[in-house]
Amino acid sequence: MVHEQTGGRSGDDGRLGVRLHDTLGEAAVQEQRELACEQLGFARTGSPREVRHPGARDGLGLDAVGALVAVAAAGVVVVRAAQAESKMYLTQRGSRIAMRVAVLGTGMVGRALAGRLADLGHDVVMGTRDVAETLARTSPDGMGNPPLPTWLAGRPQVKLDSLAAAAAHGEIVVNATSGGHSIDALVAAGAQNLAGKVLIDIANPLDFSHGMPPTLFVKDTYSLGEQIQADFPDARVVKTLNTLNANLMVNPRELADGDHSVFVSGNDPAAKAIVIGLLRDFGHTDVIDLGDITTARGSEMYLPIWLRLMGALGSSAFNVKVVR
Ligand SMILES: NC(=O)c1ccc[n+]([C@@H]2O[C@H](COP(=O)([O-])OP(=O)(O)OC[C@H]3O[C@@H](n4cnc5c(N)ncnc54)[C@H](OP(=O)(O)O)[C@@H]3O)[C@@H](O)[C@H]2O)c1
Repeated sequence: MVHEQTGGRSGDDGRLGVRLHDTLGEAAVQEQRELACEQLGFARTGSPREVRHPGARDGLGLDAVGALVAVAAAGVVVVRAAQAESKMYLTQRGSRIAMRVAVLGTGMVGRALAGRLADLGHDVVMGTRDVAETLARTSPDGMGNPPLPTWLAGRPQVKLDSLAAAAAHGEIVVNATSGGHSIDALVAAGAQNLAGKVLIDIANPLDFSHGMPPTLFVKDTYSLGEQIQADFPDARVVKTLNTLNANLMVNPRELADGDHSVFVSGNDPAAKAIVIGLLRDFGHTDVIDLGDITTARGSEMYLPIWLRLMGALGSSAFNVKVVR
C-alpha cells in the first residue's frame, strides 16, 4: 500500500508530492527526512519538528523537507534539482533566500535585473551570445549606456557567460533579450536548461523595421509570452515587468513611493507565486495576476500607449496605477 506525503503544498500541482511505501515504517521515513535535511543544507531550529534553510527568514516543517529529501533519496530527481525546488518552495512562502539566477540579456533591462538581484543576495550569471565579443566592447550602446565591461567592473558579484551556461546555472531564468530575437536567444540557451524552471519573460514584441514608433510583430490573438511558452513547454513562463522602464522594474519606490501597478501572466500558479515574491522584494506593492499566459497579450499590447506616453511626457519614468 502506498500513501502520499505532500510536503505541505496541498492544493497546488503536487510537485513536491512523494510516495512513501508504508512498508518503510516511521523510523525509516524519519531517517530519510534527516538525510534529506543534510543533503539539502537545512539546519535544525530550536523546535523539534522545524528546520531552516540558511538565508531563509522562516523555518519549515520537517515533513515538508522530508518530502523533498525523500524525492532526492528515491532518485526521482537529483539532489541539485531538489535543492532548487526547496528554494523555490521557500521563496513562494515569502522567505527571501539566495537563488541562482540567469539573466539572459546584457542591455538596460538585463543590467537592471542582474544588478538588483545581486544586491538582494542572489547568485547571478548574465548570458550573452558571444562572451569574448561582449567583453571586447568599448563603445556605448545605441542608447548611450556604457559598454558592458564598464558596467561589469562596478558589479564584481555579477558573472558573464554564454546563454547556455547562464541558463544552466539558473534556478530561475530571466529573458531580457530583444523581443524579435528572444526565441533565438532561448534556443541558444537550450530547452534542457529551461525545463522545469521559472522563466521570467520581460521582452516586448517590438518591430522597428517600419520606423518609429515600433509596431508589435505579434498581437490580438497571440503574444510573445505565449510563443515562448509554446516553444518551451517545459519552462514555467511568467510574463511580467514589460510595462515599466528598466529602472522602475527593480526600483519601483523611486516613483510615487511605489504606489503603482505591475502585472503577471502565466499558466503555473506556483511559478507566479515565486515571481510575485521577487517583485515584492524589488518593492512592488500592487502586483495584479491577470491570469494564464494568454493574458500576456494585454500587457504586451499596452506598449503602443506606453510609447506615446513616453513621447508626450518626455520621460520613461512613469507607470500606471490601477485604481479600484
Ligand atoms: N529598455 C526598457 O526600459 C524596457 C522596458 C520594458 C521591456 N523591455 C524589453 O526588455 C527586453 C530587453 O530590452 P533592453 O532595452 O535591455 O535591450 P535590447 O537592446 O532590446 O536587447 C538586448 C539584448 O538582446 C540580445 N540580442 C540582440 N539581438 C539578438 C539576436 N539576434 N539573437 C539573440 N540575442 C540577441 C542582446 O544579446 P547580446 O548580449 O549578445 O548582445 C542583448 O543581450 C526587450 O525585449 C525590451 O522590449 C525593455
